[in-house]
Formats: sequence, C-alpha cells, structure tokens
Amino acid sequence: MTMQRQLEVLASPVFPAEELAALEPTIEAIEELKATRNAVILAHNYMTPDIYHTVADITGDSLALAREAARTDAEVIVFAGVHFMAETAKITCPDATVLIPDPEAGCSLAESISGADVVALRQRYPGVPIVCYVNTTADVKAEVDICCTSGNAVEVVESLGRDRVIFLPDRYLGAWVASQTDVEIINWDGSCMVHERFTGAELRGYRQVHPGISIIAHPECPADVLDEADYVGSTAGMIGWVRAERPAQVVMVTECSMSDNVAVEVPDVDFVRPCNLCPHMKKITLDKIKTSLETMTTEVVVPPDVAERARRSVDAMLAVTAAPIPQIA
Ligand code: 13P
Ligand code: SF4
Repeated sequence: MTMQRQLEVLASPVFPAEELAALEPTIEAIEELKATRNAVILAHNYMTPDIYHTVADITGDSLALAREAARTDAEVIVFAGVHFMAETAKITCPDATVLIPDPEAGCSLAESISGADVVALRQRYPGVPIVCYVNTTADVKAEVDICCTSGNAVEVVESLGRDRVIFLPDRYLGAWVASQTDVEIINWDGSCMVHERFTGAELRGYRQVHPGISIIAHPECPADVLDEADYVGSTAGMIGWVRAERPAQVVMVTECSMSDNVAVEVPDVDFVRPCNLCPHMKKITLDKIKTSLETMTTEVVVPPDVAERARRSVDAMLAVTAAPIPQIA
C-alpha cells in the first residue's frame, strides 16, 4: 500500500486527524525498514487499525496467515499477532527470520495445554486421532495428528473419516464442531479469555435495543452465544460475511478491533461494538513493530526436531483445506 493510500484510509472517521499526523513518521520508518530488511508484516485481524490499515502487507485469520507464511520469499517475517501464530509462521517457513514485536503476547488457549498433556491423552484414548486448534504451542502441534483453525475445524475433523476424535484445547470451539458433525468429539477444557465473557443474554439485549440487528460470532464463544448468532465463523469468515451481506446494523461478537478495521471499508454498515479486548493482541503496537525491525528482536525460535514434527500437523491441515483468498492490505 502506498503512503498516500495509507493516509487516505487513515483519514476515515476511525482516526482523529491529530492521531494521523502523529503516526506518519513511524509508518514511514517502518516502510523503510521493511525494504532494507526484505521483510513482510503479517497482521492478524485483531490488530488495531493503525497497524491493520497501514504497515501490514497481509492481513487475515490464523489460516490465511499460516498459508502466507508458508509461501513467502521474504527473509524476515514480522508477525503482528500472538506468539503461537508467530511460531506457526516459523514452522511453515523455517528459513525466514520470524520476529514478534512483543514476546509476551500469549494466548489463554495456548497456555491451557502442554505437549505432555497430549501424550497422556494418547495413552488414555489409544488409536483415537487428535486434532489441535492452531491456538497451541509448537510442542502441542508436534504431538497431534493434524491442526485446524476456526475456519476449517469441521472440515478437518471430518477429513479423518473416524467416528471419534479428540479435539483440543478449546471446549467451546469443540462443542461447536460437535454441533456441526456426526463425529463424536472428546473435548479438552481450555477457553479463550476474550470470547468466553460474551453471554446469550447480552446478545438478546442487543436484539431488544436494536431491532433487526445482525449478530455474527466467533466459534470460540459459548454455545448460548452461538445459538443467538445469524452467522458463526472465523475472523476472516466474519469479515467476508459483512462485506457480502452489507447488513444495515451488525454486532461482531469477537475482539474489539475487528469492527474498527472493517468499518473503514464498509461505511454504509452501522457497527454496534461490544468491547472485549484481547490483552495479548493489544501488546503489539506500531512503535514495537518499528523497534522489532530496527533491532531484529524478538526472534521466534522453535527447536528443529519439534518444528519438524509440528510441521507435519500444520501441513496435514493445509492439505485438506481449500485455499482461502488472502486479504492483501
Ligand atoms: P481466527 O483464526 O478466526 O482469526 O481466530 C484466532 C483467534 O485467536 C481468535 O481469538
Ligand atoms: Fe487467544 Fe482469545 Fe486472544 Fe485469540 S482472543 S489470541 S484465542 S486469548
């Protein structure tokens, strides 16, 4: 995206003019560093608009970003997202230097299970295939049969052709998958600290106050929330739904920044914004991205033997899933 285009996007009502002027030098510095380092910035849909609409080269959900990492020829990947996503990029693109602007950007789901827990599950359920959500560490990915994301979880589970599958670590995503398939799901007890806070009662409240509103939700939400939704899908799925359906009014039941990001491109849609911030995603800032490229920190390292085994589960997922259309920023 050219600097001129970036500034036009930023001039939309999402950005106050004084904020825009203040951002300009940092954006310019990052663009120069990207060129010098032969770097690409992959940014998750939960990044704030100042990152999402400016320095990001590719934006997307976990699935699209994993695919992009696998096929980039950049020497450096700066991952504007959380640690497990940067690890996935390192697993799929081992020759690149992968940087995360804040190594403390974690995830409550990734923290809920270890590789040793998966080994114990295998002993408890011999012969039952194990699917892990991409929101897991490389150690966990190394122990499972196949990965999935929220965008392809049902497809991946059904691709195994088995009656019973272990699904980890998100109990809500697991329950949602179970509601969409005849395959029996054995769940783990993890949850997303952002999505588990939404309630069905809250959404019924939106419908009372805003008659006719569309409700779209991420499948990490509890079942009573998903029951109220007109559409359930990954972050990219939710964005695609709004682009295609152009509802007069919509509530995106997910992390706050999503509505801010999409609002820029669909000014005709009125967004009612529930605000549940992901404190991990919000650790990534424009200033930290600049520092990351200046100092080449913090490099994401995955031990080669773990990366090799984890890569098999990620590749298995990429092989069963139809390629999504990446969002080129
Ligand atoms: P998506 O894969 O749908 O982008 O979700 C990732 C995530 O962390 C949602 O909380
Ligand atoms: Fe993890 Fe939830 Fe944050 Fe996504 S929103 S990164 S699942 S804590």
